Amino acid sequence: MEIKVTRAETERIRPEDSDLGFGQVFTDHMFVMDYSQDKGWHNPEITPYTDFAISPAAMVFHYGQAIFEGLKAYKTAEKKIQLFRARDNFERMNRSAKGMCIPQFDVDFIMDALKKLIKIEEKWIPETIGTSLYIRPTIIATDPFLGVRASFSYKFYIILSSVGAYYAEGLNPVKIWVSKEHVRAVKGGVGEFKTAGNYAASLIASEEAKEDGYAQVLWLDAIERKYIEEVGAMNIFFVVDDEILTPNLTGSILPGITRYSVISLAKKWGMKISERKISIDEIFKAHDKGKLKEVFGSGTAAVISPVGEIRYGDKAISIGDGTPGEIAMKFYDTLTDIQYGRTRESENWIEVVE
Ligand code: PLP
Ligand code: COI
Repeated sequence: MEIKVTRAETERIRPEDSDLGFGQVFTDHMFVMDYSQDKGWHNPEITPYTDFAISPAAMVFHYGQAIFEGLKAYKTAEKKIQLFRARDNFERMNRSAKGMCIPQFDVDFIMDALKKLIKIEEKWIPETIGTSLYIRPTIIATDPFLGVRASFSYKFYIILSSVGAYYAEGLNPVKIWVSKEHVRAVKGGVGEFKTAGNYAASLIASEEAKEDGYAQVLWLDAIERKYIEEVGAMNIFFVVDDEILTPNLTGSILPGITRYSVISLAKKWGMKISERKISIDEIFKAHDKGKLKEVFGSGTAAVISPVGEIRYGDKAISIGDGTPGEIAMKFYDTLTDIQYGRTRESENWIEVVE
């Protein structure tokens, strides 16, 4: 399929890197493609960034058939543009599509479309360390129809956003809050898919967490309300004695690309790492015995984010001394060295945009 390109008449200027924040600055162009039952995915286009005209009856607005991804492009010191594990994101998106009854797409085609878009938007990739171009591929159901079924038509689009740190705290440890009342997802449901409703379902607890001064929610499993699952926008790791622990994938947790990267680096370095059920009690007990050395989250937006405090009911534990832990920093440094092209050992996780 040929991708039609229409350039914006006027192009804007990227704000200063220090003013970027997360997800507020959008670039001049976007990629759009449509799906219909008779044509399949068709009409791929790079167009000026603009609003969509969509029927108020579009099924996405009513029944939430929407999936998305989050990945990043980085500019190296040599001015090369690097994508980190982008194919893995699109493969996960296809799994989300399947789970949400959305038609799948050709990953190679979308990789090419993304590279084409990024080349056009090169000036929007910030270069300061900690900044990047966040990429948000999305698919929404567009049939104007009020009955409940899978839509017959969809829109796939990719928008780009120049970003700085996800958390205002930057690399300083964040405080997380365990929800006792609410759950994010249940085994057998859609928790492992990156679908809009999972985030909508998480809002009530995150608002409560924020009111108490916590950055995000640490979710427990929905059945026993005992086992740790993940954080709002990150997977979670615990360093207990000399072992790294992370919850195993049960179907209700998002299988993070950064999570896989951490696990594979840890194995490569010969660290002890286990993916298994971890109860919140086990973590609080490990803390009481002085065995809980570090806690950190992993995610595209957050990279590696040290956790300095966990609250569960009326008990809060502090982890570390208010500075990022050594192991969290080792992962952070290695991942960012790979992403910003400061090392040749990139684990085959980099695709250069030429
Ligand atoms: N868990 C949730 C709920 C997320 O939204 C994200 C971010 O995408 C992650 C975990 C981390 O996934 P990844 O490392 O692929 O960004
Ligand atoms: C990520 O891309 O890392 C995310 O968690 C997306 C988030 C901002 C919802």
